[in-house]
Amino acid sequence: MSLERLSDRVVIVTGAASGIGQATAVRLASEGAKVLASDINQEGLTETLETANEVAEGGGECITHVADISREADAANTVETAVEAWGRLDGIANIAGMLRSGRTHECSLDSWNQILAVNLTGTFLMCREALPHLMESKGAIVNAASTSSSFGHPWMAAYAASKGAIWSFTQTLAVEYCKVPVRANCVAPGSVHSGITSNVSFPDDITKDESKLVRRIMSPTGFGDPQDVASVVALLLSDDGKHITGECIRIDGGTHA
Ligand SMILES: NC(=O)c1ccc[n+]([C@@H]2O[C@H](COP(=O)([O-])OP(=O)(O)OC[C@H]3O[C@@H](n4cnc5c(N)ncnc54)[C@H](O)[C@@H]3O)[C@@H](O)[C@H]2O)c1
Repeated sequence: MSLERLSDRVVIVTGAASGIGQATAVRLASEGAKVLASDINQEGLTETLETANEVAEGGGECITHVADISREADAANTVETAVEAWGRLDGIANIAGMLRSGRTHECSLDSWNQILAVNLTGTFLMCREALPHLMESKGAIVNAASTSSSFGHPWMAAYAASKGAIWSFTQTLAVEYCKVPVRANCVAPGSVHSGITSNVSFPDDITKDESKLVRRIMSPTGFGDPQDVASVVALLLSDDGKHITGECIRIDGGTHA
């Protein structure tokens, strides 16, 4: 049964062509939201559009927009497109992200900079562009952190650094805009089936001893599904989450309990 708790809300979802972002766009449309689904991957967005419009209820609908969140102009025109389409903006789910793994002493500066540019700077740019509109609507922000934001995960230094910074950035937003109010929270998934996890690989020369460290990342209850995260994003963007701000909700099947 549909909750329809996001009827008449306009929401942007980045990273919406795949995995958690796609599941989020679909979930929000099913709860009545008008969703601008954004990503660099046009093909995946087409799939999102079809699924979201199929399940949309309570005035929910979906349009798509191709953009690279690490580019200032793209971030600005993503927000403009949503506001032009529906006249307002009530929420943003910054889900887009990338992961490259490897030993830290072998990480190139280019690779480090690219991960920070997409995950961290992209999240900042989208928030900066969205905030004037969210201040008008008293809206909400949800950023994609990770369990690596606050627990050491080997072989993903740039990724973990970006996710730790997203969490501290989000706390700053929560405090800075709490009097408006604009709420700002993070979701912190553990291991979830998605594009990121199907492409991740650990160093080839990993020793037997080191392989035990993988347990720090993998949930004892197995991988989660993108929908397990999407449902929490929907809660945080809706009035059911109206007293939650500055929070980082771990969705990791108990890995870090
Ligand atoms: N899957 C997990 O286990 C897991 C765990 C913790 C955190 N996360 C976070 O969840 C978020 C979603 O990842 P996912 O697991 O669904 O992976 P995914 O690869 O399926 O989705 C990531 C999406 O981001 C898009 N993207 C990448 N760079 C972009 C850019 N510059 N501009 C716009 N879009 C871009 C990709 O095209 C893709 O559609 C990421 O921020 C990721 O770090 C995932």
